[in-house]
This record gives sequence, C-alpha cells and structure tokens, in this order.
Amino acid sequence: MNHAQLATKLNSIGQGHVYTFYDRLPPEQQQRLDAQLDSLDLDLVARLIDTVVQEPAPFQLPPDVKPAPYYPYEPRNPAEKDKYQKAFRRGEELLRAGQVAAFVVAGGQGTRLGWDGPKGTFPATPVKRKPLFQCFAEFLLALEKRYGPQPTFYIMTSPPNDAATRKFWRDHQYFGMKPENVIIFPQDVLPAVGFDGKILLETPGSLALSPNGHGGSLLALYKSGATADMARRGITQISYFQVDNPIVRCIDPLFIGLHDLDGAQMSSKMLPKEYGKEKLGNFCLSRGKIHVIEYSGFPDALAEERLPDGQLRFRAGSIALHALRRDFVEALNHHGFALPYNRADKKVPCADLSTGQPIKPEKPNAVKMESFVFDALPLTDISIIYETNRQDEFAPIKQPTGNDSVESSHAITTLRNAAWLEQAGVHVARTTQGKPDCVIEIASGVALYPDDLLPRKESLRPIKAKEEVYLG
Ligand code: UD1
Repeated sequence: MNHAQLATKLNSIGQGHVYTFYDRLPPEQQQRLDAQLDSLDLDLVARLIDTVVQEPAPFQLPPDVKPAPYYPYEPRNPAEKDKYQKAFRRGEELLRAGQVAAFVVAGGQGTRLGWDGPKGTFPATPVKRKPLFQCFAEFLLALEKRYGPQPTFYIMTSPPNDAATRKFWRDHQYFGMKPENVIIFPQDVLPAVGFDGKILLETPGSLALSPNGHGGSLLALYKSGATADMARRGITQISYFQVDNPIVRCIDPLFIGLHDLDGAQMSSKMLPKEYGKEKLGNFCLSRGKIHVIEYSGFPDALAEERLPDGQLRFRAGSIALHALRRDFVEALNHHGFALPYNRADKKVPCADLSTGQPIKPEKPNAVKMESFVFDALPLTDISIIYETNRQDEFAPIKQPTGNDSVESSHAITTLRNAAWLEQAGVHVARTTQGKPDCVIEIASGVALYPDDLLPRKESLRPIKAKEEVYLG
C-alpha cells in the first residue's frame, strides 16, 4: 500500500494517530514508517486489539485437567524397552535418510540477560566460551559424522536481530556447516498497544514493534518458504528447540523415533519439576488433548498437589523441546494461522503523542501480543511426551545470576561431563560435598553420549582439583 492507502486503512481501524508527526518527518523517516506499517497485517492487528487488548478473555483453566501421560526416561518393562530400542533405530533411520531438520527459535530479545547482540551469539560454554550457535552447529556436525547427511538447520530470527545473526554465521564460516544447510529467516512483529487500544510510537517516526512470540515460528516456517524448502529436501520431521540451552540435543533419535512411530503430529520432552512452583509450563490433559499451562496461570493448589508416595501429581514440566511433522505445520497455516495470541502487559518506552517527547514508563503501560508454540498441542490428534534427564539436556542461560544463569549452566555442564567421564572409568576430582571440583567441557564432536568416550578410555587422564579441561 502507498502512504495514502495506508492512511485510509489506519483511519478505518481507528489508528490514524500513528501519522501524527508524519508531515514533520524527513522523507527517509516517512518512508521507514510507511514501510513498517505496510509490513503489518493491519486487519489482524485491528482484530487483536479488539480481542486481546480491549476485551481480553480471562484466563481459564481447561476443564477436567489431569496430569498428561508420558514415556518415562528409563523404560519400565521389557515391552517398553523394546519400544525404545525400535524408536531409537527409527530415529537413526530418519537421520540417515536426511528426513529430520533442526529448528531453533532465536527471535527473542534476550533483554533479561543484558547481552547486546542476538542471544545465539552469547559465549556459553564453561571453558572455551563457545557461542550458543556454535554448540548447535557442532552437535549437527557430529550427527553428520555418525549418520551421513548433514541435517539442515533452520534458524528463526526477528527483524531486530536478523542482520546481526546472518553476519555472525558468515563471519564464522557457518562453523563448518555448509552455508546452504543453514537457513535463516525472521519471524513477524506486532505493534505494542496502549491500554486505550492505540498503537504506540517508539519515536515520532517509528512504531514500537516486537516479535510475535515463539508460536510465530510456526507461521514463519510456512510464510518464509522454509516448509516448502523442507519438502524439496525430503524433510518430514522438525526438531524444535530454544536458543538458550548449550547442551540441548538438537536432534534426539530416540525422541524423534517415538514421535514418528506413534504417528504424532507434535510431541514434547518434559522434565520432572524439582518443586511445585518451578517456573516451567505444566503438561496437562483436558478432554483427551494435551495442554501446556504456564506456571504463572497454574493454580497453586494443583502445582503443589502430591500423590500418596510424595511425588508431585503434576510433575511434568515443559522445557520447550518439540518434534513436529512438517505437514502439521503446513496444516496450521492452511486457513490462516491457527494459534491464539496471548496478552503480556509490559513497560514499553514510547513517544508522547502530544509532544513527541520520549516516555520511559515506570510501570506497565502497554500490551504485547504473542502466540506460544505449545498452543499447537491441543490442535493435534496424537501427541506424545517423553521424559528427559535434567543433567543431560537442560542447562539454559536466561538470567545474569542465580537459577538458569551462566553460572548454573556451567555447573550443570560440568556435572554432566564429570558423570560421563566417570562412566568411562576416569577419575574426576570432587569436593567433600560430592560436586565436581573442576570445570569440564566436552565438544559434541568427541561425544554425544557417554559411551562415545569408551574408545578413548586409555588416552583420558584423571582430572585434578581446580583443573579446567576441554575435550575437543
Ligand atoms: C519458556 C517457556 C516455559 C518453559 C521454558 C523452558 C514460554 C512462555 N515459556 O520460558 O514454558 O518452561 O521456556 O526453558 O514459552 N522466542 C522467539 N520469538 C519470540 C519470543 C521468544 O524466538 O517472539 C524464543 C526465544 O529466543 C527463546 C525462546 O523463544 O529461544 C523462549 O522465550 P522466552 O521468552 O525466553 O521464554 P522463557 O521465559 O525462557
């Protein structure tokens, strides 16, 4: 649309104020503002303002919630053991056939961490300080070494970090991956909206825009042509993960295999929560459908409820690891995008509409609209959940200090690596409390599983107290 058409459209949806300062802007800023507006689906924006901002539906627990069933980490009986073996082989088969893609959602702004760059560029590992993106590339290269084809890696960015992400990969020669196997594309943005339903300006010449949530990845995969690209490459399954976890199994043959053998459309990995109110989404079952209910909306009584044996009744926490069939992602987009949008009240710096001066709010002043990837789960006919092991797979970096920080991530990584080395018969110095008294990093190229260390057993030496060791 040109400027006049945009102005007409904006007036018709009650948002004409975004052009308040237009006539006073230099031509290049006028063009930029027009381009920002033209890139938005203004009908969707108007609809979301009516529903999510003006008349938000209060949060409602789905009816008859029960804990969702899941496959346990260790098989419980011979039949399950047999199934896991079959599933692992099936996952391997899919990898050998090049049918599984890795997909990371890296569009978030990482503001909590205070890192001034795409979060995937954050130096994450305990010894070499490898960036998160490098951890994933090395994992995928290790899969290539084992199974033949190099998995294609789809990376979702967002407009604010897209160019920096592309440059980072180019500057690092794609960490050894083939450039044609690293596909980077941005998610959509939506404007922040004041509580009065008016789109906010960040400055007199630009909108306050933010990414449309990780659920937007299922729209972006389709809109960007990534799913069409997958179809051309013969990819049928997508392994979805978040950018914040350096030890994530980017593709796990067992999990993909279970998901595929059971004919699931979208599946999830879970961790048993350490305590009732741990900040993880809760896997629930309601009328036969899987739902994830965020910790913030989950009633305390349910979160804390215990079974007679003392275990939490709702113990399955979401760590945002999913397997998705490509055709399921396509179907979610066939009649417009199927996921709902949620409301988050945030402090959004903006321009005062009467003066154009910047406002730095002290309390939430605006609504951001985001969709969540797990809201696709109730739309499946079949969905499985597999329990994983915290130490083996979950060391996210979200905060500067405390839980889920760089420090805790390094500690979990060392804990995992110490256990792997000890299984291979290597002595690791531990403190009197039993914690590893050293720092250990193991590159994916050396080991994806503890057994991979066995052939090197003879060359591995004991790890002394206070040592920093890198096996790469
Ligand atoms: C998330 C989950 C939580 C889960 C936890 C596990 C939500 C609302 N919460 O919390 O259930 O237990 O992870 O670690 O999802 N992202 C985008 N685009 C966006 C927004 C986010 O790509 O528009 C990406 C981020 O880059 C990141 C991931 O999504 O990789 C998670 O986003 P974040 O907002 O950090 O969620 P968490 O609070 O970590």
